[in-house]
Amino acid sequence: LIKQAAFNSISRHKTTVAMVDAAKRLAARAAVDEYVKNGQKVGIGSGSTIKFAVERIAERTKDESLNVVCVPTSFQARELILSSGLVLESLDTTPVLDVAIDGADEVDKDFVLIKGGGGCLTQEKIVAAAAKKFIVIADYRKDSTLLGEQYKKGIPVEVIPMARVPIKRKIESNFGGKAELRMAINKAGPVVTDNGNFILDWKFDKVHKWSEVHKEIKLMPGVVETGLFVDMTNAVFFGLEDGSVKTK
Ligand code: 5RP
Repeated sequence: LIKQAAFNSISRHKTTVAMVDAAKRLAARAAVDEYVKNGQKVGIGSGSTIKFAVERIAERTKDESLNVVCVPTSFQARELILSSGLVLESLDTTPVLDVAIDGADEVDKDFVLIKGGGGCLTQEKIVAAAAKKFIVIADYRKDSTLLGEQYKKGIPVEVIPMARVPIKRKIESNFGGKAELRMAINKAGPVVTDNGNFILDWKFDKVHKWSEVHKEIKLMPGVVETGLFVDMTNAVFFGLEDGSVKTK
């Protein structure tokens, strides 16, 4: 009986993972097909959903001779671009992008995003800000009315390592909640970003005016960037459980 229960739970988990992956793929393909055009300069986000977007760009490069150059938002994105045979550029050579595509941890009704679950928020925001259009791709679990409804890990804030304690104290005393240093999975030490910094995950305990909170946190000395993306997004594609795509 115990073995059967364990088997059921594993197969339920596998089904959920497969459904979520299918939703990510749907969103990614729809966004690439609508927004990526020949000759464009494209920002490539980070995370698991973006893999499906890069897969589609690579497919179209082969099938339709689509010709684009890609600018990454992380080491992971850079490797993905290279391993998919796409042309890698940087903001040094390509400072203005036609479009940037990226995942998100949560999207609220006003298009405010939480990003940085993978710790790449700073480069993601730089690339998004360099793009004429910023397009978000996500599975159905990321669609929310108010931030915090779906994503429980808090808002990531990238900080200079020596400033992490004062910043944690300021965030908690100014806004409430808890700002926790993100640790590596094996707990051997803090997660270090591609920029050599630490991440505080701020678990807020109420809904705030996100644009104001973002500005205030950003002004704290030692804060590099917040994972709040406000007024940056042009369109969001959600892959749904029923195999359709919802756009916001
Ligand atoms: C990384 C990010 C990711 O885009 C975000 O965490 C979503 O990831 P996934 O596509 O794996 O759900 O912001 O810093």
